[in-house]
Amino acid sequence: MSVTEEIKSRLDIVDIVSDYLPLRKSGRSFAGFCPFHQNTRTPAFYVFPETQTWHCFGACAEGGDIFSFVMKKEGWDFKETLQKLADKAGVELESQQPMDSRQQAFEGKMASLLSAAADYFNMLFLHAPQAAHARQYVAERALNEETIDAFKIGFALNEWNACRSHFQEQGYSDSELLAAGLLTENPDKGTRYDRFRNRLMIPIRDVNGRTVGFGARTLEKDGIPKYLNSPQTELFDKSSLLYGLDGAKRHIREARQVVIVEGYMDVMQGWQAGFRNMVAQMGTALTEPQLRQLKRYTKRFILALDADAAGQKATMRGLQVARETLDREVEVKFDARGLVHHEGRLQADIRIVTLPEGNDPDKIIRTDATAWPKLLEQAQPVVAYVIKMATQDLDMSDAKAKTAVAQQVLPLIKDISDPVERDHYWQELARALRVDERALRQIQVQEKPQFRPRPVEQPGPPEPPPPPDNWEESGTAVPRKAKSIRRKADGSMAANMREANYLSQCLHHRTILIQVNQRLRQNQQPEVNESDFTAVEDRLLLKQLYEWQKRGVVAPIAELCDSLDEALNERAQTLLTFPPTPDSELDRLADKLALSVLNWRQEKIGQLIGEIKQLFRQGDTSDDVDASEMYDKLNEWKLTVLNIHKAKNAMSAVNRRRAENLGNGRF
Ligand code: UTP
Ligand code: MN
Repeated sequence: MSVTEEIKSRLDIVDIVSDYLPLRKSGRSFAGFCPFHQNTRTPAFYVFPETQTWHCFGACAEGGDIFSFVMKKEGWDFKETLQKLADKAGVELESQQPMDSRQQAFEGKMASLLSAAADYFNMLFLHAPQAAHARQYVAERALNEETIDAFKIGFALNEWNACRSHFQEQGYSDSELLAAGLLTENPDKGTRYDRFRNRLMIPIRDVNGRTVGFGARTLEKDGIPKYLNSPQTELFDKSSLLYGLDGAKRHIREARQVVIVEGYMDVMQGWQAGFRNMVAQMGTALTEPQLRQLKRYTKRFILALDADAAGQKATMRGLQVARETLDREVEVKFDARGLVHHEGRLQADIRIVTLPEGNDPDKIIRTDATAWPKLLEQAQPVVAYVIKMATQDLDMSDAKAKTAVAQQVLPLIKDISDPVERDHYWQELARALRVDERALRQIQVQEKPQFRPRPVEQPGPPEPPPPPDNWEESGTAVPRKAKSIRRKADGSMAANMREANYLSQCLHHRTILIQVNQRLRQNQQPEVNESDFTAVEDRLLLKQLYEWQKRGVVAPIAELCDSLDEALNERAQTLLTFPPTPDSELDRLADKLALSVLNWRQEKIGQLIGEIKQLFRQGDTSDDVDASEMYDKLNEWKLTVLNIHKAKNAMSAVNRRRAENLGNGRF
């Protein structure tokens, strides 16, 4: 549940509005004098507890939810309103709330403990007689004093309680040592002991140089695991950390590109040889938070992958499995499709280079440092790389194999957001397969359910996004889930879904906004405006979309959303998890959306007409209320509905003709 939903679920609009004006129960709703326009005669202001909305049937003819009411009444902006209503509802706004002092003190203590631990391990490494073999090992790996110092390499004694008693003497408790990941507890026996024993200690620091955890390499031959890392905590989250970034950021900016490698040793070896724009992803697939961090310094990424991680077969397998495993926690080291999406969303340039079999950057650089930059020069854009990998050993006389490759690579090409680039790869694939491009375009790709970027920032599996409204007017199949929801809920639910879907498509496809308005204008219907939306976040998002449009902002949507208020950004992120319309259907998207807008408008007005009729039936308007104003309204709305109906018919006819023409024509 989003923050605003949480707040809405805890507050009652009737209570809130009653704080500002007297309300009188009137059938299923509550009536009062509208606080937004001058009137003393007609209580034209109604609050509907069932939908938790309000509406003025009088001069101002406005309506909305609890947020828009308070905003309008108090003159507060959204942020302020959110804060006030959150307080009232007892909902904590995480990022806006100052961290409570105990939490702050705890985090401060953890940070100083981890940094003290890095010093402690480093001292042992440099001076302890028991660390002789560790020093020997590091010397064998050809790391010099300066590198040891820069990365603060350390050593953990081969004892069960050395680290523990050292820090106990300094006043740290067991629970603090456990929280910092320095101590391990055996859950069965309840015994506690040092987590790191007889290991080479590599402090892992965040982008600001704060030590947040350790990677600890075994010093035994074939010791398992090779690297024992700090346990996953709030402070140490491998999926958003990049090893070496604190020292590399300056160099990344200077070099105007970053090289992403797999391991600690690769980064250290590179640093020592003067290749300092390197960071390591520490054995996991690249995540969007990692790429976002890097993007502050450069937009050019080179991924240097071990041959085994992204060998030819693994490449194709990775390409296939990435989509299926996306929601599961399976390690996909090379996820071509994910990379193409990141690239589009971040407007980045991602290139791939595979290292020669059995080599890693550490080995290559140590053997011949001049080989490294030469290798990097061979890095290729993701799709070019995949095409090359998929076709280099292909038997060109095997037609079926060619089709299979096309089937695998085409979804990737279709995912590319830039149309020129996309076209380029259509041609490149055709060339590589030695087939006619037109033939390629006729291949029906067996599309699995649309790729959904996984919102990685939040812990735990995200709530599934509401099902998209799949255009009941177009006859496309509606997902089963959407159907059952629609059956259960009243019309307002379906309308809300349509509003959400409209916004999500506008976020995905930025010119759609104008095109939909164009269609509406052509049919004498008002453009999409704030009053079309029920939820206040959606109104504000629409306003923002118009604003960006007006200013001609072309930055990628993910970046724009980042600049939004917390709650708005949260809403935008949810909307972005709706699948974008596939390119092949983009032509018809504006038509469908315009129809959808008219449908929900019609539905909403229908509801209000129902409410008014209900009020009349109750006789509620006869005694103290001047009913003529409401009769006027009623007639006005009936006319509006009629016009919407006409516009819908006209649009449907045009759409049908267009679809027929498309069907007769080419792809
Ligand atoms: P590698 O197995 O390629 O190790 O894992 P490496 O960096 O070449 O290490 P050396 O050269 O043998 O010392 C790459 C990275 O994956 C993570 C580490 O971050 C490592 O640097 N990893 C690997 C683990 O976290 N745990 C493991 O058991 C192995
Ligand atoms: Mn290695």
